[in-house]
Amino acid sequence: MKHTDIKNIYENKKAFLNKAVTVCGWVRTSRDSKNTAFLELNDGTSFKHLQIVIDKEVIKDSHAFLPLCSALKVDGVCVTATNDPAGIEINAKAITLLGECPAEYPIQKKPHTLEYLRTVPHLRVRTNTFSAMFRLRSKLSEAIHKFFLDRNYTYVHTPIITGSDCEGAGEIFKVTTIGYSDKFKTEKDYYEADFFNKQAGLTVSGQLEGEVMAMAFGKIYTFGPTFRAENSNTARHSAEFWQIEPEVAFAEIDDIIEIATEMIKFIIKYALDNCKDELAFFEKFYEKGLIAKLTSVVESDFAKIDYTNALEILKKSGKTFQFPVEWGCDLQTEHERYLTDEVFNRPVFVVNYPKKLKSFYMKQNADGKTVSATDLLVPGVGEIIGCSEREADYNKLLEAIKDRGMRVSDYDNYLDLRRFGSVPHSGFGLGLERLLMYITGIGNIRDTAVYPRTKGNLS
Ligand code: 4AD
Ligand code: MG
Repeated sequence: MKHTDIKNIYENKKAFLNKAVTVCGWVRTSRDSKNTAFLELNDGTSFKHLQIVIDKEVIKDSHAFLPLCSALKVDGVCVTATNDPAGIEINAKAITLLGECPAEYPIQKKPHTLEYLRTVPHLRVRTNTFSAMFRLRSKLSEAIHKFFLDRNYTYVHTPIITGSDCEGAGEIFKVTTIGYSDKFKTEKDYYEADFFNKQAGLTVSGQLEGEVMAMAFGKIYTFGPTFRAENSNTARHSAEFWQIEPEVAFAEIDDIIEIATEMIKFIIKYALDNCKDELAFFEKFYEKGLIAKLTSVVESDFAKIDYTNALEILKKSGKTFQFPVEWGCDLQTEHERYLTDEVFNRPVFVVNYPKKLKSFYMKQNADGKTVSATDLLVPGVGEIIGCSEREADYNKLLEAIKDRGMRVSDYDNYLDLRRFGSVPHSGFGLGLERLLMYITGIGNIRDTAVYPRTKGNLS
Protein backbone atom coordinates (compact mmCIF):
# COMPACT_ATOMS: atom_id res chain seq x y z
CA MET A 1 0.00 0.00 0.00
CA LYS A 2 1.83 3.13 -1.16
CA HIS A 3 1.86 5.79 1.54
CA THR A 4 4.09 8.39 3.19
CA ASP A 5 5.66 7.97 6.64
CA ILE A 6 4.31 10.54 9.10
CA LYS A 7 7.90 11.11 10.25
CA ASN A 8 8.84 12.26 6.74
CA ILE A 9 5.99 14.75 6.69
CA TYR A 10 7.13 16.25 10.01
CA GLU A 11 10.75 16.38 8.92
CA ASN A 12 10.04 18.01 5.54
CA LYS A 13 7.04 20.19 6.30
CA LYS A 14 7.81 22.79 3.66
CA ALA A 15 8.09 20.25 0.88
CA PHE A 16 4.78 18.65 1.79
CA LEU A 17 2.71 21.84 2.22
CA ASN A 18 -0.23 21.96 -0.21
CA LYS A 19 0.73 18.56 -1.64
CA ALA A 20 -1.50 15.53 -1.85
CA VAL A 21 -0.40 12.64 0.37
CA THR A 22 -1.60 9.28 1.53
CA VAL A 23 -0.92 8.26 5.13
CA CYS A 24 -1.82 5.07 6.96
CA GLY A 25 -2.07 4.61 10.70
CA TRP A 26 -4.18 4.11 13.80
CA VAL A 27 -6.48 6.61 15.45
CA ARG A 28 -4.97 7.71 18.77
CA THR A 29 -7.56 10.36 19.66
CA SER A 30 -10.63 11.72 17.94
CA ARG A 31 -13.03 14.59 18.41
CA ASP A 32 -16.32 15.26 16.73
CA SER A 33 -18.10 18.58 16.22
CA LYS A 34 -20.99 19.78 14.10
CA ASN A 35 -19.31 20.27 10.76
CA THR A 36 -15.84 18.91 11.34
CA ALA A 37 -14.21 15.90 12.97
CA PHE A 38 -10.56 15.65 14.05
CA LEU A 39 -8.37 12.59 14.29
CA GLU A 40 -4.87 12.16 15.60
CA LEU A 41 -3.27 9.46 13.50
CA ASN A 42 -0.07 7.60 14.36
CA ASP A 43 1.74 5.19 12.04
CA GLY A 44 4.58 4.36 14.43
CA THR A 45 7.31 6.20 12.52
CA SER A 46 7.02 9.22 14.77
CA PHE A 47 6.25 9.78 18.43
CA LYS A 48 4.04 12.68 17.40
CA HIS A 49 0.58 12.01 15.98
CA LEU A 50 -0.60 13.76 12.82
CA GLN A 51 -3.88 15.64 12.85
CA ILE A 52 -6.42 14.73 10.19
CA VAL A 53 -9.19 17.24 9.66
CA ILE A 54 -12.44 15.84 8.29
CA ASP A 55 -14.92 18.17 6.65
CA LYS A 56 -18.18 16.30 7.07
CA GLU A 57 -19.45 17.72 3.78
CA VAL A 58 -16.55 16.02 2.00
CA ILE A 59 -16.57 12.79 3.99
CA LYS A 60 -20.07 11.75 4.81
CA ASP A 61 -19.58 8.68 6.99
CA SER A 62 -16.94 10.19 9.31
CA HIS A 63 -18.33 8.51 12.48
CA ALA A 64 -17.01 5.17 11.17
CA PHE A 65 -13.43 6.43 11.48
CA LEU A 66 -13.55 7.89 14.98
CA PRO A 67 -13.26 4.87 17.34
CA LEU A 68 -9.86 4.70 19.05
CA CYS A 69 -7.32 2.49 17.30
CA SER A 70 -9.28 2.14 14.07
CA ALA A 71 -6.79 1.51 11.28
CA LEU A 72 -7.14 3.98 8.41
CA LYS A 73 -5.78 4.95 5.05
CA VAL A 74 -6.19 8.68 4.52
CA ASP A 75 -5.85 10.50 1.20
CA GLY A 76 -5.64 14.23 1.67
CA VAL A 77 -3.72 17.45 1.31
CA CYS A 78 -1.08 18.77 3.73
CA VAL A 79 -1.92 22.23 5.05
CA THR A 80 -0.62 24.56 7.76
CA ALA A 81 -2.09 23.50 11.11
CA THR A 82 -5.12 25.54 12.16
CA ASN A 83 -3.78 26.42 15.59
CA ASP A 84 -0.02 26.37 14.93
CA PRO A 85 1.55 28.34 12.04
CA ALA A 86 4.65 26.13 12.25
CA GLY A 87 2.63 22.91 12.31
CA ILE A 88 1.17 20.74 9.60
CA GLU A 89 -2.05 18.75 9.31
CA ILE A 90 -4.04 16.95 6.66
CA ASN A 91 -7.36 17.88 5.13
CA ALA A 92 -8.88 14.53 4.32
CA LYS A 93 -10.28 13.93 0.83
CA ALA A 94 -11.02 10.23 1.21
CA ILE A 95 -10.65 7.75 4.06
CA THR A 96 -10.60 3.96 3.92
CA LEU A 97 -11.27 1.91 7.04
CA LEU A 98 -8.58 -0.79 6.95
CA GLY A 99 -9.45 -2.37 10.27
CA GLU A 100 -12.23 -1.46 12.63
CA CYS A 101 -11.71 -1.33 16.39
CA PRO A 102 -14.81 -2.09 18.43
CA ALA A 103 -15.69 -0.42 21.73
CA GLU A 104 -14.39 -3.32 23.86
CA TYR A 105 -10.81 -2.30 22.91
CA PRO A 106 -9.10 -2.49 26.32
CA ILE A 107 -7.18 0.77 26.06
CA GLN A 108 -9.51 3.73 26.19
CA LYS A 109 -8.92 7.45 26.45
CA LYS A 110 -8.81 7.59 30.26
CA PRO A 111 -5.29 7.24 31.68
CA HIS A 112 -4.53 3.65 32.59
CA THR A 113 -2.10 2.65 35.32
CA LEU A 114 1.15 0.96 34.36
CA GLU A 115 0.01 -2.01 36.44
CA TYR A 116 -3.13 -2.38 34.35
CA LEU A 117 -1.19 -1.96 31.12
CA ARG A 118 1.10 -4.85 32.14
CA THR A 119 -1.94 -7.11 31.85
CA VAL A 120 -2.23 -6.24 28.15
CA PRO A 121 1.40 -6.28 26.95
CA HIS A 122 0.33 -6.87 23.34
CA LEU A 123 -1.73 -3.67 23.33
CA ARG A 124 0.14 -1.35 25.70
CA VAL A 125 2.81 -0.78 23.03
CA ARG A 126 0.23 1.43 21.31
CA THR A 127 0.15 3.95 24.17
CA ASN A 128 2.28 7.09 24.36
CA THR A 129 4.32 5.80 27.30
CA PHE A 130 5.39 2.68 25.46
CA SER A 131 5.78 4.47 22.17
CA ALA A 132 8.30 6.74 23.90
CA MET A 133 9.93 3.82 25.74
CA PHE A 134 10.53 1.57 22.74
CA ARG A 135 11.60 4.42 20.50
CA LEU A 136 14.16 5.33 23.14
CA ARG A 137 15.20 1.70 23.51
CA SER A 138 15.89 1.57 19.78
CA LYS A 139 17.80 4.87 19.78
CA LEU A 140 19.91 3.88 22.78
CA SER A 141 20.82 0.63 21.02
CA GLU A 142 21.86 2.65 17.98
CA ALA A 143 23.97 4.93 20.21
CA ILE A 144 25.66 1.95 21.86
CA HIS A 145 26.67 0.39 18.54
CA LYS A 146 27.85 3.75 17.28
CA PHE A 147 29.94 4.42 20.38
CA PHE A 148 31.87 1.17 20.11
CA LEU A 149 32.09 0.82 16.34
CA ASP A 150 33.45 4.36 15.98
CA ARG A 151 36.23 3.43 18.42
CA ASN A 152 37.62 0.33 16.68
CA TYR A 153 35.67 -2.26 18.67
CA THR A 154 34.46 -5.45 17.00
CA TYR A 155 30.86 -6.44 17.68
CA VAL A 156 30.71 -10.12 18.59
CA HIS A 157 27.86 -12.55 19.10
CA THR A 158 28.50 -14.83 22.04
CA PRO A 159 26.47 -18.02 22.54
CA ILE A 160 23.11 -18.03 24.26
CA ILE A 161 23.42 -21.69 25.27
CA THR A 162 26.42 -22.33 27.49
CA GLY A 163 27.90 -24.98 29.74
CA SER A 164 29.44 -22.61 32.30
CA ASP A 165 28.11 -20.18 34.87
CA CYS A 166 30.05 -16.95 34.40
CA GLU A 167 28.86 -15.27 37.56
CA GLY A 168 28.95 -18.48 39.61
CA ALA A 169 25.73 -17.50 41.32
CA GLY A 170 23.81 -20.65 40.33
CA GLU A 171 21.10 -18.63 38.63
CA ILE A 172 21.21 -20.49 35.33
CA PHE A 173 18.07 -21.53 33.48
CA LYS A 174 18.57 -25.12 32.39
CA VAL A 175 18.34 -26.07 28.74
CA THR A 176 17.16 -29.62 28.25
CA THR A 177 15.15 -31.71 25.82
CA ILE A 178 14.27 -34.37 28.37
CA GLY A 179 11.01 -33.93 30.17
CA TYR A 180 9.94 -35.47 33.45
CA SER A 181 11.17 -39.03 33.72
CA ASP A 182 12.03 -41.51 36.45
CA LYS A 183 14.14 -43.72 34.20
CA PHE A 184 17.48 -42.18 35.27
CA LYS A 185 19.13 -43.55 38.38
CA THR A 186 21.50 -40.60 38.86
CA GLU A 187 21.82 -36.97 37.85
CA LYS A 188 24.91 -37.92 35.84
CA ASP A 189 22.93 -40.47 33.79
CA TYR A 190 20.30 -37.86 33.16
CA TYR A 191 22.69 -35.21 31.87
CA GLU A 192 24.59 -37.73 29.75
CA ALA A 193 21.37 -38.70 28.02
CA ASP A 194 20.45 -35.09 27.35
CA PHE A 195 20.94 -33.15 24.11
CA PHE A 196 24.51 -31.96 24.75
CA ASN A 197 25.45 -35.00 26.85
CA LYS A 198 26.11 -32.58 29.66
CA GLN A 199 24.35 -29.93 31.67
CA ALA A 200 23.52 -26.85 29.60
CA GLY A 201 21.92 -23.52 30.34
CA LEU A 202 21.07 -20.05 29.09
CA THR A 203 23.93 -17.61 29.43
CA VAL A 204 24.00 -15.20 32.36
CA SER A 205 26.73 -13.15 30.67
CA GLY A 206 28.74 -13.21 27.44
CA GLN A 207 31.88 -12.18 29.27
CA LEU A 208 33.89 -15.41 29.22
CA GLU A 209 33.49 -15.77 25.47
CA GLY A 210 33.99 -12.01 25.15
CA GLU A 211 37.40 -12.41 26.77
CA VAL A 212 38.27 -15.11 24.24
CA MET A 213 37.50 -12.65 21.43
CA ALA A 214 39.28 -9.73 23.13
CA MET A 215 42.50 -11.76 23.19
CA ALA A 216 42.36 -11.78 19.38
CA PHE A 217 40.49 -8.60 18.47
CA GLY A 218 41.75 -6.32 21.25
CA LYS A 219 38.53 -4.41 21.79
CA ILE A 220 35.19 -6.14 21.50
CA TYR A 221 31.67 -5.72 22.74
CA THR A 222 28.64 -7.96 22.93
CA PHE A 223 25.07 -6.74 22.95
CA GLY A 224 22.51 -9.44 23.54
CA PRO A 225 20.05 -11.13 25.84
CA THR A 226 21.16 -12.68 29.11
CA PHE A 227 19.11 -14.73 31.54
CA ARG A 228 19.04 -15.14 35.28
CA ALA A 229 16.74 -17.23 37.41
CA GLU A 230 17.07 -14.76 40.26
CA ASN A 231 14.46 -15.27 42.87
CA SER A 232 14.13 -11.59 43.61
CA ASN A 233 10.83 -10.01 42.83
CA THR A 234 11.99 -6.39 42.70
CA ALA A 235 11.36 -3.44 40.42
CA ARG A 236 14.84 -3.76 38.90
CA HIS A 237 15.33 -7.49 38.39
CA SER A 238 14.23 -9.30 35.34
CA ALA A 239 14.84 -12.92 34.32
CA GLU A 240 15.68 -11.88 30.75
CA PHE A 241 17.60 -8.67 30.14
CA TRP A 242 19.93 -7.25 27.52
CA GLN A 243 23.53 -6.66 28.42
CA ILE A 244 26.21 -4.65 26.68
CA GLU A 245 29.57 -6.18 27.55
CA PRO A 246 32.75 -4.60 26.25
CA GLU A 247 36.02 -6.43 26.87
CA VAL A 248 39.23 -4.52 26.38
CA ALA A 249 42.75 -5.92 26.14
CA PHE A 250 45.51 -3.85 27.76
CA ALA A 251 42.95 -1.94 29.87
CA GLU A 252 43.49 -1.73 33.61
CA ILE A 253 40.76 -0.81 36.06
CA ASP A 254 41.12 2.97 35.67
CA ASP A 255 41.09 2.67 31.88
CA ILE A 256 37.84 0.72 31.90
CA ILE A 257 36.24 3.15 34.34
CA GLU A 258 37.10 5.93 31.90
CA ILE A 259 35.58 3.98 29.01
CA ALA A 260 32.39 3.26 30.96
CA THR A 261 32.06 6.94 31.89
CA GLU A 262 32.60 8.08 28.33
CA MET A 263 30.07 5.52 27.07
CA ILE A 264 27.31 6.51 29.52
CA LYS A 265 27.81 10.19 28.70
CA PHE A 266 27.77 9.47 24.97
CA ILE A 267 24.53 7.46 25.18
CA ILE A 268 22.78 10.08 27.28
CA LYS A 269 23.93 12.91 25.00
CA TYR A 270 22.68 10.91 22.02
CA ALA A 271 19.28 10.56 23.67
CA LEU A 272 19.15 14.27 24.52
CA ASP A 273 19.98 15.16 20.91
CA ASN A 274 17.84 12.58 19.14
CA CYS A 275 14.87 11.82 21.41
CA LYS A 276 13.68 15.27 22.45
CA ASP A 277 9.94 14.53 22.18
CA GLU A 278 10.23 11.27 24.06
CA LEU A 279 12.30 12.77 26.91
CA ALA A 280 9.96 15.76 27.16
CA PHE A 281 7.12 13.25 27.58
CA PHE A 282 8.93 11.37 30.36
CA GLU A 283 9.81 14.66 32.05
CA LYS A 284 6.15 15.69 32.01
CA PHE A 285 4.61 12.43 33.19
CA TYR A 286 7.27 10.45 35.05
CA GLU A 287 10.17 12.47 36.46
CA LYS A 288 10.21 16.20 37.00
CA GLY A 289 13.69 17.58 36.28
CA LEU A 290 14.62 14.57 34.12
CA ILE A 291 16.20 16.58 31.30
CA ALA A 292 18.22 18.74 33.71
CA LYS A 293 19.40 15.56 35.44
CA LEU A 294 20.51 13.99 32.17
CA THR A 295 22.20 17.18 31.01
CA SER A 296 24.13 17.38 34.25
CA VAL A 297 25.25 13.74 33.91
CA VAL A 298 26.74 14.57 30.52
CA GLU A 299 28.48 17.68 31.82
CA SER A 300 29.81 16.69 35.24
CA ASP A 301 32.28 14.16 36.62
CA PHE A 302 31.11 10.89 38.10
CA ALA A 303 32.01 10.26 41.72
CA LYS A 304 34.30 7.42 42.78
CA ILE A 305 34.57 5.90 46.23
CA ASP A 306 36.26 2.90 47.77
CA TYR A 307 33.90 0.21 49.07
CA THR A 308 35.54 0.54 52.49
CA ASN A 309 34.90 4.30 52.56
CA ALA A 310 31.34 3.79 51.32
CA LEU A 311 30.74 1.53 54.31
CA GLU A 312 32.05 4.23 56.64
CA ILE A 313 29.58 6.71 55.14
CA LEU A 314 26.71 4.24 55.57
CA LYS A 315 27.69 3.53 59.16
CA LYS A 316 27.88 7.22 60.01
CA SER A 317 24.59 8.00 58.23
CA GLY A 318 22.56 7.50 61.40
CA LYS A 319 20.05 5.59 59.30
CA THR A 320 18.57 2.28 60.32
CA PHE A 321 18.99 -0.03 57.38
CA GLN A 322 17.09 -3.29 57.08
CA PHE A 323 20.35 -5.06 56.16
CA PRO A 324 23.14 -4.35 58.69
CA VAL A 325 26.27 -2.58 57.46
CA GLU A 326 29.50 -4.42 58.24
CA TRP A 327 32.69 -4.66 56.18
CA GLY A 328 32.17 -7.61 53.88
CA CYS A 329 28.43 -7.12 53.43
CA ASP A 330 26.97 -6.81 49.96
CA LEU A 331 25.52 -3.41 49.17
CA GLN A 332 21.75 -3.79 49.16
CA THR A 333 19.41 -1.53 47.22
CA GLU A 334 18.78 0.57 50.34
CA HIS A 335 22.54 1.14 50.75
CA GLU A 336 23.06 1.93 47.09
CA ARG A 337 20.14 4.35 47.09
CA TYR A 338 21.42 6.14 50.17
CA LEU A 339 24.79 6.66 48.51
CA THR A 340 23.39 7.80 45.16
CA ASP A 341 20.25 9.68 46.20
CA GLU A 342 21.36 11.25 49.46
CA VAL A 343 25.15 11.51 49.41
CA PHE A 344 26.40 11.89 45.84
CA ASN A 345 23.31 12.81 43.80
CA ARG A 346 25.05 11.69 40.63
CA PRO A 347 26.51 8.46 39.26
CA VAL A 348 29.15 6.93 41.53
CA PHE A 349 31.67 4.14 41.00
CA VAL A 350 32.17 2.02 44.13
CA VAL A 351 35.57 0.33 43.79
CA ASN A 352 37.52 -2.50 45.45
CA TYR A 353 34.82 -4.80 46.76
CA PRO A 354 35.56 -7.65 49.16
CA LYS A 355 36.78 -10.68 47.23
CA LYS A 356 34.20 -13.03 48.68
CA LEU A 357 31.29 -10.98 47.34
CA LYS A 358 32.42 -11.09 43.77
CA SER A 359 33.07 -13.52 40.94
CA PHE A 360 36.09 -15.75 40.44
CA TYR A 361 37.47 -13.92 37.40
CA MET A 362 38.19 -10.59 39.08
CA LYS A 363 41.75 -9.39 39.60
CA GLN A 364 42.83 -9.92 43.16
CA ASN A 365 44.25 -6.87 44.88
CA ALA A 366 47.53 -6.95 46.79
CA ASP A 367 45.71 -6.63 50.16
CA GLY A 368 44.46 -10.23 49.69
CA LYS A 369 40.95 -9.16 50.75
CA THR A 370 39.56 -7.14 47.86
CA VAL A 371 39.26 -7.36 44.11
CA SER A 372 39.69 -4.76 41.41
CA ALA A 373 35.98 -4.51 40.74
CA THR A 374 33.57 -1.63 40.56
CA ASP A 375 29.84 -1.11 40.26
CA LEU A 376 28.40 2.06 38.78
CA LEU A 377 25.45 3.19 40.89
CA VAL A 378 23.01 5.86 39.72
CA PRO A 379 20.33 7.81 41.60
CA GLY A 380 16.86 6.26 41.51
CA VAL A 381 17.99 2.87 40.23
CA GLY A 382 21.18 1.69 41.95
CA GLU A 383 23.63 -0.53 40.06
CA ILE A 384 23.58 -0.22 36.28
CA ILE A 385 27.11 -1.47 35.52
CA GLY A 386 29.18 -4.30 36.98
CA CYS A 387 32.83 -3.89 36.01
CA SER A 388 36.25 -5.31 36.79
CA GLU A 389 39.81 -5.83 35.76
CA ARG A 390 40.20 -9.55 35.07
CA GLU A 391 42.67 -11.84 36.81
CA ALA A 392 45.35 -12.32 34.16
CA ASP A 393 47.58 -14.58 36.26
CA TYR A 394 47.09 -18.29 35.56
CA ASN A 395 47.84 -19.57 39.03
CA LYS A 396 45.75 -17.01 40.88
CA LEU A 397 42.82 -17.65 38.56
CA LEU A 398 43.08 -21.41 38.97
CA GLU A 399 43.15 -20.97 42.72
CA ALA A 400 40.03 -18.77 42.63
CA ILE A 401 38.17 -21.39 40.59
CA LYS A 402 39.17 -24.15 43.00
CA ASP A 403 38.40 -22.03 46.08
CA ARG A 404 34.83 -21.67 44.92
CA GLY A 405 34.43 -25.38 44.31
CA MET A 406 33.92 -24.83 40.59
CA ARG A 407 34.74 -27.63 38.12
CA VAL A 408 38.15 -26.72 36.65
CA SER A 409 37.52 -28.68 33.44
CA ASP A 410 34.62 -26.34 32.58
CA TYR A 411 37.12 -23.46 32.45
CA ASP A 412 39.96 -25.02 30.46
CA ASN A 413 39.53 -22.63 27.52
CA TYR A 414 39.28 -19.67 29.83
CA LEU A 415 42.44 -20.69 31.69
CA ASP A 416 44.26 -21.12 28.37
CA LEU A 417 43.85 -17.39 27.78
CA ARG A 418 46.21 -16.94 30.75
CA ARG A 419 48.70 -19.43 29.34
CA PHE A 420 48.99 -18.12 25.80
CA GLY A 421 49.84 -14.42 25.62
CA SER A 422 48.00 -13.24 28.72
CA VAL A 423 47.65 -9.47 29.08
CA PRO A 424 45.96 -7.16 31.57
CA HIS A 425 42.38 -6.68 30.44
CA SER A 426 39.09 -5.37 31.76
CA GLY A 427 35.43 -5.21 30.90
CA PHE A 428 32.00 -4.45 32.17
CA GLY A 429 28.33 -5.28 31.75
CA LEU A 430 25.70 -2.59 31.36
CA GLY A 431 22.06 -3.63 31.80
CA LEU A 432 20.05 -1.98 29.03
CA GLU A 433 16.76 -2.07 30.94
CA ARG A 434 18.32 -0.48 34.03
CA LEU A 435 19.80 2.25 31.84
CA LEU A 436 16.34 2.81 30.36
CA MET A 437 14.87 3.14 33.86
CA TYR A 438 17.46 5.80 34.64
CA ILE A 439 17.01 7.71 31.39
CA THR A 440 13.19 7.66 31.41
CA GLY A 441 12.44 7.85 35.12
CA ILE A 442 10.20 4.78 34.79
CA GLY A 443 10.30 3.07 38.15
CA ASN A 444 9.81 -0.56 37.14
CA ILE A 445 11.89 -2.75 34.86
CA ARG A 446 8.65 -4.46 33.73
CA ASP A 447 7.89 -1.32 31.74
CA THR A 448 11.12 -1.33 29.73
CA ALA A 449 10.67 -4.60 27.77
CA VAL A 450 7.90 -5.63 25.39
CA TYR A 451 7.27 -8.85 27.27
CA PRO A 452 9.01 -8.60 30.66
CA ARG A 453 10.13 -11.91 32.10
CA THR A 454 9.93 -12.04 35.87
CA LYS A 455 9.32 -14.79 38.40
CA GLY A 456 5.91 -16.33 37.90
CA ASN A 457 5.18 -14.20 34.85
CA LEU A 458 5.42 -15.50 31.30
CA SER A 459 2.58 -13.70 29.61
O1 4AD B 1 27.07 -7.13 37.66
P1 4AD B 1 26.74 -8.22 36.71
O2 4AD B 1 26.25 -9.49 37.26
O3 4AD B 1 28.07 -8.42 35.83
C1 4AD B 1 28.27 -9.37 34.91
O4 4AD B 1 27.46 -10.14 34.47
C2 4AD B 1 29.65 -9.31 34.30
N1 4AD B 1 29.93 -10.60 33.67
C3 4AD B 1 29.71 -8.17 33.35
C4 4AD B 1 31.06 -8.02 32.69
O5 4AD B 1 31.99 -7.65 33.38
N2 4AD B 1 31.17 -8.33 31.42
O6 4AD B 1 25.66 -7.69 35.66
C5 4AD B 1 25.94 -6.57 34.85
C6 4AD B 1 24.74 -5.66 34.78
C7 4AD B 1 24.25 -5.13 36.12
O7 4AD B 1 25.01 -4.02 36.55
C8 4AD B 1 22.83 -4.74 35.80
O8 4AD B 1 22.76 -3.51 35.11
C9 4AD B 1 22.43 -5.84 34.84
O9 4AD B 1 23.61 -6.37 34.27
N3 4AD B 1 21.70 -6.90 35.52
C10 4AD B 1 20.37 -7.03 35.51
N4 4AD B 1 19.42 -6.29 34.92
C11 4AD B 1 18.15 -6.68 35.08
N5 4AD B 1 17.77 -7.77 35.77
C12 4AD B 1 18.70 -8.56 36.38
N6 4AD B 1 18.31 -9.65 37.03
C13 4AD B 1 20.06 -8.19 36.26
N7 4AD B 1 21.22 -8.72 36.70
C14 4AD B 1 22.20 -7.92 36.25
MG1 MG C 1 26.71 -6.77 39.65
